[in-house]
Amino acid sequence: MDKKRLALEEAKRLLTEIRDGYREAPTASRATFDRFQESLSKTPANSDSAPILITSPLISSQEATSAWEELRKKALACVKCPHLASTRTQVVFGVGNPSADLMFVGEAPGADEDAQGEPFVGRAGQLLTKIIEAMGLRREDIYIGNVLKCRPDMPKGETGNRKPRPEEMETCLPWLKEQIQLIKPKAMVALGSTAAEGLLKTNAPMRDLRGRWQDYEGTPVMVTYHPAYLLRNQTLTEKRKVWEDMLLVMEKLEMPISEKQKNFFKTAAK
Ligand code: URA
Repeated sequence: MDKKRLALEEAKRLLTEIRDGYREAPTASRATFDRFQESLSKTPANSDSAPILITSPLISSQEATSAWEELRKKALACVKCPHLASTRTQVVFGVGNPSADLMFVGEAPGADEDAQGEPFVGRAGQLLTKIIEAMGLRREDIYIGNVLKCRPDMPKGETGNRKPRPEEMETCLPWLKEQIQLIKPKAMVALGSTAAEGLLKTNAPMRDLRGRWQDYEGTPVMVTYHPAYLLRNQTLTEKRKVWEDMLLVMEKLEMPISEKQKNFFKTAAK
């Protein structure tokens, strides 16, 4: 194999590991690039072998990393729901910083996520990214996962996405539970009532859940509307409700909140 192709493959592998939360993102993006450059420069020009990968102390705790790696490996090979394992393109494990203070939890990957292997990359995901950025954060600062790690299968010939069934969420929940135990976030946001049902075992309506702290095994959880709901209901009132929930999250995490942030969508407050 020629050197350039090997180098590109190595780069792709590293970037995929960052994207999937397998390596820490904030420091990794720059550091990995530098490391990659260094590796390339140490590979003789006429060498037929792959660039020497110089490992660096990107990962703070070796133990935590191997537990995360182990979990990820097992989840990626999961076949507990044979109907989903046989129809998925890939398991969508999660993305972001595995030591994040804040974790967002959605219901299940849709078609875009199934194709790309990353949660919240479709239209709803783009809106979620805007919400995260309005909070002064980046996707790589937090962790994003789903209750269900496989795309719910669709009847033959039908497009679109369906909601995960309670029994599918129940079967998959142990993966999320282990992710939460390893990440140890200071707060979580459950996106939509299906995610809330899967995580918190509640069928309470959104109006009773949002705006107040719920609990998942000792971790505070803010339930809010799913971004897909906001795409369907683009009123300032609904946007403000989600934003109020995010302000509560920022407060809980003791994040600075600017006047501008406090006043987003304020005219529509109810
Ligand atoms: N909706 C979800 O709940 N999760 C995703 O990953 C994408 C859309």
